[in-house]
Amino acid sequence: MMRLDKLLSHSNYGTRKEVKQLIRKGFVLVNGEVILDDDFKVDEEKDEIVIANNEIKWEKYIYIMLNKPDGYVSATYDNFKPTVISLIEGYDKRNIFPVGRLDIDTEGLLLITNDGMLAHKLLSPKSHVDKKYYVEFEGEYKESFKDRFKEGIILDDGYKCLPAKINYLGDNKCEVIIREGKFHQVKRMFEALGSRVIYLKRIEFGSLVLDNNLKLGEYRALTEEEIKKLIEN
Ligand code: URA
Repeated sequence: MMRLDKLLSHSNYGTRKEVKQLIRKGFVLVNGEVILDDDFKVDEEKDEIVIANNEIKWEKYIYIMLNKPDGYVSATYDNFKPTVISLIEGYDKRNIFPVGRLDIDTEGLLLITNDGMLAHKLLSPKSHVDKKYYVEFEGEYKESFKDRFKEGIILDDGYKCLPAKINYLGDNKCEVIIREGKFHQVKRMFEALGSRVIYLKRIEFGSLVLDNNLKLGEYRALTEEEIKKLIEN
């Protein structure tokens, strides 16, 4: 159960003050009855809530795919730089956060949600969720990179990466699949090979594939099918 004014305000019908006005003016019906009391409690799962002829469907969990642009921090709050959450409009007070991190200069697929359980599952090292990146790099490409990726590249701090895959596309471009998410991992893997990443974009995260229709900074809600696959991941 939750307060009617809270539900409306969290569903983007205005600030708490504005929605109280809507309720008091008789614009809101619960199960067919006009409710004038803003602290009226509703069962968000079952009650039929209608405001100005629109039925409100309360979604407990929010799942958004963002095509992250360069220059945004993968966090909910930052003192200096804009965050990925600042790009997402209409979900104020819904406690959404990015699932994992992309570096400030990395672009591409970032899942934004308020489903802590799913985030935890997807980020757990045990889950081994595949992440696919498109990479442009400086330096020579060598056939031996394939085996080095397969064997597990050793990073600057001595950490041996899990087996990964590289698919060279020619012209210093490639796709890489890793199953973990160590700090700056792809960049450090290339450094270990004597190269340098100059452009990085995530294109897949588990079963989720970046929607080509999304321009940088654009986002959309996941489809039911995408959510289902992700949960089953
Ligand atoms: N690897 C990196 O180096 N940076 C990212 O943002 C993601 C993976």
